[in-house]
Amino acid sequence: MRDAARKRVLVTGGAGFLGSHLVEALLAAGHDVLCVDNFYTGTKDNLLRVLNPPRFELLRHDITFPLYVEVDEIYNLACPASPVHYQFDPVQTTKTSVHGAINMLGLAKRVKARIFQASTSEVYGDPEVHPQKENYRGHVNPIGLRSCYDEGKRCAETLFFDYHRQHGLPIKVARIFNTYGPRMHPNDGRVVSNFIVQALQGRPITVYGKGRQTRSFCYVDDTVDAFVRLMRSGDDFTGPVNIGNPRECTVLELAEKIIELTRSRSRIVFEPLPSDDPARRCPDITLAKAMLGWEPRVTLEQGLEKTIAYFESLQYRSAQDTARVDRPAAA
Ligand SMILES: NC(=O)c1ccc[n+]([C@@H]2O[C@H](COP(=O)([O-])OP(=O)(O)OC[C@H]3O[C@@H](n4cnc5c(N)ncnc54)[C@H](O)[C@@H]3O)[C@@H](O)[C@H]2O)c1
Repeated sequence: MRDAARKRVLVTGGAGFLGSHLVEALLAAGHDVLCVDNFYTGTKDNLLRVLNPPRFELLRHDITFPLYVEVDEIYNLACPASPVHYQFDPVQTTKTSVHGAINMLGLAKRVKARIFQASTSEVYGDPEVHPQKENYRGHVNPIGLRSCYDEGKRCAETLFFDYHRQHGLPIKVARIFNTYGPRMHPNDGRVVSNFIVQALQGRPITVYGKGRQTRSFCYVDDTVDAFVRLMRSGDDFTGPVNIGNPRECTVLELAEKIIELTRSRSRIVFEPLPSDDPARRCPDITLAKAMLGWEPRVTLEQGLEKTIAYFESLQYRSAQDTARVDRPAAA
């Protein structure tokens, strides 16, 4: 890579699920990468493949405190992302989004760096319109259990746009919808990892309601590709831009597909629908297609196969099930 194209890139939350894939993509593109993480939900295990290269540095740091480093670009991903994790210490979650954004924006201003914000579809709250376009202002409860995350991310967006308007900072705001893939947390209550682990262990797969609620799942490689394209887009394009897969699938279809791909004996069991379970979640990605030339390429089946292989490598499949799956099928 020519020196001018080689950038010093900071990734906050780089030891997490999305962050570790982004770090790998940036190193593969020839950049110098500084990963900053406090290991709240992330782990060094996620970075095993990149810990040695000379162009990679890892710093244990909590972004709610100021950071002074020299970089050209910042991807701000640090924040617990699933309800189980972000509700564990809600005050810290809001601090990470809000104080973290202030600290990273302050750093970007000082060193004149471009800065990317990992925002979320949760800024739309419990939406009244489907699919959600970026100009939908959302339907968010400011005082509920999810508010520490939803309102924290909304406030972070506000800060990004005020730094842009007030200080001319080049910002890039992505509203990320459900992403799945290797290195998801096995126990964070997300439907893809939940179902895969249950299927590999031969335990019942718990579907809420009748399983007719729809979700849309984007494979991690597609999501990371969108992040990089957004960072490379012209200064006049700030976002917010939806990044997600518009292909909807019912939760029941997902459970059946995972049972088929894992060749599991698990049964599907139906449990009462929780009160905050949205009926539909689906992005409108017209803007991402037009401005970034991006749309997801990995099919649900291809992505699930890779994700299942990852959980199998962690030996989630029960010994009994391994013996059964390894045995050739009877003629
Ligand atoms: N995975 C998704 O489907 C999804 C969807 C929407 C938005 N996002 C956003 O993308 C980002 C990454 O999500 P993820 O799924 O990789 O989550 P993750 O929990 O795997 O990664 C978050 C990382 O941030 C680190 N972190 C948390 N608080 C920190 C702090 N105060 N200082 C430094 N590091 C801190 C964690 O240790 C972890 O490594 C988050 O900002 C999340 O809100 C993710």
